Order: sequence, then C-alpha cells, then structure tokens
Amino acid sequence: FTKPVLAGTNVVITAGGTQEAIDPVRFIGNRSSGKMGIALANVAADMGAHVTLISTVHDPISSPNIEEVHVSTAIEMQKKLEEVFAINDVLVMAAAVSDFRPIHKADQKIKKNNDQDLYTIKLQKNPDILKEISRQKTNQFVVGFAAETENLIPYAQKKLYEKNVDMILANDVSKAGSGFNTDTNEITVIQRDKEPVTWPLMSKNDVASKFWEFYENNIKK
Ligand code: PMT
Repeated sequence: FTKPVLAGTNVVITAGGTQEAIDPVRFIGNRSSGKMGIALANVAADMGAHVTLISTVHDPISSPNIEEVHVSTAIEMQKKLEEVFAINDVLVMAAAVSDFRPIHKADQKIKKNNDQDLYTIKLQKNPDILKEISRQKTNQFVVGFAAETENLIPYAQKKLYEKNVDMILANDVSKAGSGFNTDTNEITVIQRDKEPVTWPLMSKNDVASKFWEFYENNIKK
C-alpha cells in the first residue's frame, strides 16, 4: 500500500520502441521492452496519479489509474502525445523512438530478387517528439531519457539543452544490467545548473519509485 501523494497529478508516459513499417511483415525497430516506462507508469499510479501510458507494448499489470493507449510508429506516438500534453503536469519520455522511418511502406511483402544482392531502403527523418512537444510547454515538468553507449554525461547534457527539457535520466546502455530489455537500470540524473547524480544499479521499479519520490519532494507544487 502506497500513500496517494500524487492524487490530482496527471502524468503522461511513453514506453517501448517504435516500429516503422517496411512492408506488412517487417519493420525498423529497437530492443526496448517497455519495462522502464511501464514501471514509471505503475509506480505513479500506485502513488495516486492519473497516468496516460502511450506505449508500443501492453502493460499486463495495468492499474485502474492507467489509461493505456497503444501506438506503433513515432508519428502515432507524437499525435497521441500532442492530444494529451496540455492537460498533464508531467511528461516522462521513456520510449525509444526511431530517428528514421522508411519513406514508403510496401503494400505487399517485399520479394527477394535472385539477381539482386543489394536492396536499398530510403529513410526519412522522424520528428524529434520530445523537442517539439517541449515547445508547447506551459507548466509541465518534462523529463527525457538519454540512451548512450559512450560519453554519457556530456551527451545527456547536450540533450537537456537541445530538447529544452527539465531533466534527463541518462542510462549507459552498453553497461551490463542497464538500458534495453533488462529488469535493472543505472541512471544518472542530469539537471540544469546542478551536478550530475548517479544512482546505483537497481530494479526499474526502484528507479521509478526514486524518480517519483524526487518529483514529489522537489518539483510538485
Ligand atoms: O524499454 P526498456 O527495455 O525498459 O529500456 C529502457 C530504455 C533503454 C529504452 C530507456 O531507459 C531509455 O533510455 N529510453 C530512451 C531511449 C532513446 O530513444 O534515447 P535517445 O537518447 O535516443 O533519445 C533522447 C530522448 O529523446 C528520449 O527521451 C527519447 O524518447 C526522445 N526522442 C528521441 C528521438 C526522437 N525522434 N524523438 C524523441 O522524442
């Protein structure tokens, strides 16, 4: 049992990896399982928040405080987020968004041609959802993640400023037990004008609890 300290707080969380269709059976995707975003949604819901979870994967232990919206592509995720952003107090963007999508989706399964060893798929840049939604910020506390394989802190700090967000939860996805499709994560918290703080490796559920406790104690008005 958790005290409903976030009752009256509306949060929107994105989770999972976007899938950008190449043809009816193939897509460009990534290794995100949705576990990090779903943990953030479940802990916020336990603390009494109303949660909109915009996710590419289904949350099997969803609470009545969670309104789950299923999306596949970055464009669908952006559209749904734009619908709900204004009525929320917090956005946490835990989804792994594909930076590119195929320009064309083939109507039928692409056939391999025996004379052809190379096949080219032209990609088009996807919108930077976090950067664009941050332009519509009024009072929202906006949190992004940074998934890096090197230079964790400088790259994450760059994202904090370029995407104009309030906080970045940076994870070194090359470290064992951290990042994609694991039950644990090691997070470095990046904020404006503050020294980065690294939390020890812990379960994604504990990361979520630590984040929402931080929000409740330091940010919530
Ligand atoms: O789902 P899990 O298996 O539990 O794994 C968790 C995770 C590794 C996916 C998660 O902890 C994480 O790091 N999520 C962000 C992944 C990512 O896309 O990071 P990025 O550094 O490429 O992007 C930075 C931020 O911008 C992210 O908040 C991302 O959601 C956002 N973004 C990125 C690209 C884009 N076109 N639009 C965006 O909004």
